[in-house]
Amino acid sequence: MEYEAPLFFHVMDYAGQADRDVIDMVSGNPDWGSPPSLADGLHEYADLGGRDFQYPPSHGLRELREEIATRRNVDVERVIVTNGGGEANYLAMAGALETRSGSEFVLTDPVYPYYPGKTRMLGATPRFVATAPDGTLDPADVRKTASDETAAIVINSPNNPTGAVYDEETMSELVSIAEAYDALLISDEVYDHFDFSGTFTSALTVDSDSYVVTNSFSKTLAITGFRVGYAILPDDQDMIERARGRHMLVNVAGPRPSQYAVLHALRNVDPEYHERTRKLLYDRVRTFTDALDAAGAQYTEPKGSFYVMARFDGFPGTLENVERLIDDAGVAGMPGRGFGESREDWFRFALVTPRVEEAAERLAEYF
Ligand SMILES: Cc1ncc(COP(=O)(O)O)c(C=O)c1O
Repeated sequence: MEYEAPLFFHVMDYAGQADRDVIDMVSGNPDWGSPPSLADGLHEYADLGGRDFQYPPSHGLRELREEIATRRNVDVERVIVTNGGGEANYLAMAGALETRSGSEFVLTDPVYPYYPGKTRMLGATPRFVATAPDGTLDPADVRKTASDETAAIVINSPNNPTGAVYDEETMSELVSIAEAYDALLISDEVYDHFDFSGTFTSALTVDSDSYVVTNSFSKTLAITGFRVGYAILPDDQDMIERARGRHMLVNVAGPRPSQYAVLHALRNVDPEYHERTRKLLYDRVRTFTDALDAAGAQYTEPKGSFYVMARFDGFPGTLENVERLIDDAGVAGMPGRGFGESREDWFRFALVTPRVEEAAERLAEYF
């Protein structure tokens, strides 16, 4: 499978060059705006100058790490601030290979494409476990695929691209499978604020030293360009030191203005902001899936995140048809093959545009 980036950029380019109006449902860039406290923090930072414009501590501003630790109820030593959830996943996967005896990663299919990309980059082998048609993951299938060769099981809930949300029982089963094989569960929770089902459970609720939780402010605060995420590592000094060392050797440190602004936003954000965003996305899901019903499409009903996978009879989600949809319907989505073998016939649509209703109408009309 290719990395998401080239395919993603290809579709974006194609849509950009179309000689008609195209609604972008390709990228994962939030369109709903950040809380005002974020810009306030950035303005405040701009006036500091001097020492505050220099390197921050490599593993993150102390106060930001403390704020995260308090919110997640973990020891601050376990928190490392990273360049987005992307780096947090990389550190966790690299750390698993270094500290576990296996060299395989158990991944789901459909999958967020950066996981197989990172797996190959790190010289490891992916082992895919198919999810159910509704995107849920049966831990029994993971148990069958896991072995002594497993370094980590990498999961994502709420899920990109299916919108599945793993419940408490699933999470605790996944942790216990990781424990049984002396592997790590890497639980990517970057969409944790976008759970419509009320069933989202963080791996942090399970008492174990066999998981890393990764998260990010990219989507939570609509700041994919700021590059601030974090990992919560096991209470294991060796793993903590390895993650800090790798992070420092690759980055020196993360961006200080972004960390400062995120800290200010966390301390001052109105909780209503998250409620409003969740409601907005939930309404978009409803609007979009109603139109898919009208178009006679099959789709995975998202329980969280902001993506919808859909399949249209006689019109598989190939790159060719993605381009046709751009030209003929004015809607840009992603081809299913970007997300694994099981959904090659499907399209993935990101509901990160205020024009979801219009896109839905265009699709309903086209099919
Ligand atoms: C499942 C998942 N994990 C991680 C990321 C990376 O996010 P970040 O911008 O925080 O690196 C994304 C971005 O789309 C994602 O969908």
